[in-house]
Amino acid sequence: MSKEAQQRMEKIVSLCKRRGFIFQSSEIYGGLNGFWDYGPMGAELKRNLRDTWWQTMTRDRDDVVGLDASIIMHPTVWTASGHVDTFSDPMSTCKHCKKLVRSDQWWAMMAEQKWTQSVAELVESGTNRFQPADLLKWGKGKGKQLAPNLALVRNPDVTISWLAEEIEKGRGPADATELYKFLATEQMAITGLVTPCPHCGGELTAPRPFNLMFRSHYGPVESEDNICYLRPETAQAIFVQFKNVLDSSRVKVPFGIAQIGKAFRNEITPRNYTFRSREFEQMELEFFIRPDDAVRLIHGHVEKWRDGADLSAPSPTWGWEMWHRYWVDQRTKYYDSVGLGTDVLDYHWQKPEELAHYARATVDILFKFPFGTEELEGIAARGDFDLSQHQKFSGKQLEVFDEELKAATDKLSDEQKKEFIDELFEGRKCADTTREEISVYADKLFKGFYLPHVIEPSAGLDRMALAVLAAAFDEETVTDEKGKAETRTVLRLHPRIAPVKCAIFPLLKNRPELVAKAREVEASLRRHMNVFYDEAGAIGRRYRRQDEIGTPFCVTVDFDTIGENGPEKLDTVTLRHRDSMQQERIPIAELRARLEAAIL
Ligand code: GAP
Repeated sequence: MSKEAQQRMEKIVSLCKRRGFIFQSSEIYGGLNGFWDYGPMGAELKRNLRDTWWQTMTRDRDDVVGLDASIIMHPTVWTASGHVDTFSDPMSTCKHCKKLVRSDQWWAMMAEQKWTQSVAELVESGTNRFQPADLLKWGKGKGKQLAPNLALVRNPDVTISWLAEEIEKGRGPADATELYKFLATEQMAITGLVTPCPHCGGELTAPRPFNLMFRSHYGPVESEDNICYLRPETAQAIFVQFKNVLDSSRVKVPFGIAQIGKAFRNEITPRNYTFRSREFEQMELEFFIRPDDAVRLIHGHVEKWRDGADLSAPSPTWGWEMWHRYWVDQRTKYYDSVGLGTDVLDYHWQKPEELAHYARATVDILFKFPFGTEELEGIAARGDFDLSQHQKFSGKQLEVFDEELKAATDKLSDEQKKEFIDELFEGRKCADTTREEISVYADKLFKGFYLPHVIEPSAGLDRMALAVLAAAFDEETVTDEKGKAETRTVLRLHPRIAPVKCAIFPLLKNRPELVAKAREVEASLRRHMNVFYDEAGAIGRRYRRQDEIGTPFCVTVDFDTIGENGPEKLDTVTLRHRDSMQQERIPIAELRARLEAAIL
């Protein structure tokens, strides 16, 4: 992270604490790594984001319904989903300081350390060349404090002499990564190149898988028979309750089930403020669609993705690729509606080797955080992986009956059905699939049954909160009434998600008529939006306080409002706009409508 980005991040973190957005969990006890609390402003911000997501994903649509499931579920859910066996990150332990390091984040963590930055200053910029004498001096001096367990620090002469030998034999470090490994290695012949601990420079163990699920026990006895897990994603409850939702609601494929709730992951190295936490909130939609084979049987063809295809209105002939693109488009529009336009977003189409075990395609929507461009949301095409796993492990039938499919296949002759099976067999995705298995699958389709396929837009609420705060944070130089320049800190949050929508001020707090009128205005708005009444300090200071928490509008009740300067401006107030700092005079009677037009 550049110095500038680091400073910006520090300012955001400091503002979040100062103005009650985000606090460290259990701070008075020294905090707990990876856990965060949201203060009064943060709680409002998160609630607004949650509400906009729910509104957009469920209430604005007639094809999505909601779910609110328990956090702890039957443990077999997590065996079926693959989490017990595969939900792990590679972890190394430092043999010296015993700290844990997520191996695939090793290089990113190294880059953040003072000792690696200090060593980097000794290397000729843009090359991998250095003076061994400089490193020796560093190992005997500065290094002692910064990386006490690095071989170069513990045994500088030996480490540098064999490094010089290796370089002379043409086997020196090929790049910066290798240079740090050389500096961590004392006895090459015995240990091979050692990977240094980012924290102290000591030797890291080889990576081993570490399961990220938090384990607990239900009931009073702690045994292997009553293990349970805090859910690592909200998605599985949706799959497990799929049939209940289908049977109890008037929904038909294609349709979605949305859920917002807490998820827990015992992250090895929680990093970057709230970005990677151990407890966080997810907002997930599982959107169930017909398998492409069913679409083909009903409509004779399947619409696949092609550049420029119209994604505005779903079509019954869409295959999974079109639905996948559609949801990427929908989610992009949603982000724009909360102030995250395409200028701050990016997209990463995962390569086949990056895909999770359940996914046939995944797009990550990325946000340009100060610490780097990182994932905000993943949109995965999960096929029928989850439903078929839960069907297998629970023994319960999760297939749906599709009347249109049945009607279409009833018209097929035996010859046409055989042709269909032949085509499936030829185009089979997996060479292991036998003709018999394909026939069983096709027979079900001919009877109108299938397991729906799934497109899953999965967003993290905490990451989204951090993203909108980072995008909104701004500092600008302004001149006050006396012509003095000062720095104005302002959160340019979209009015829809701003914690406070409007602040109401009486010009002076010692004039009861002004106070009474301001309180009246406050009361008239409070039932409709989150407002804040403030009478303390100069008006300019009150504006600045609201700017810092992103309040888009401030209303001031002055002598004109109460008719002291004549009847023309009676019952009008000044409305001040956060971003432009422009003020306008408007009748109190029009205030609510004006504000609502901006915040809804
Ligand atoms: N059901 C799919 C799923 O859980 P994921 O990519 O692991 O996919 C989805 O998580 C989203 O949840 C991420 O894009 C991110 O926004 C959020 N998320 C995941 N792990 C997180 C963590 N440790 N801290 C904060 N947010 C996290």
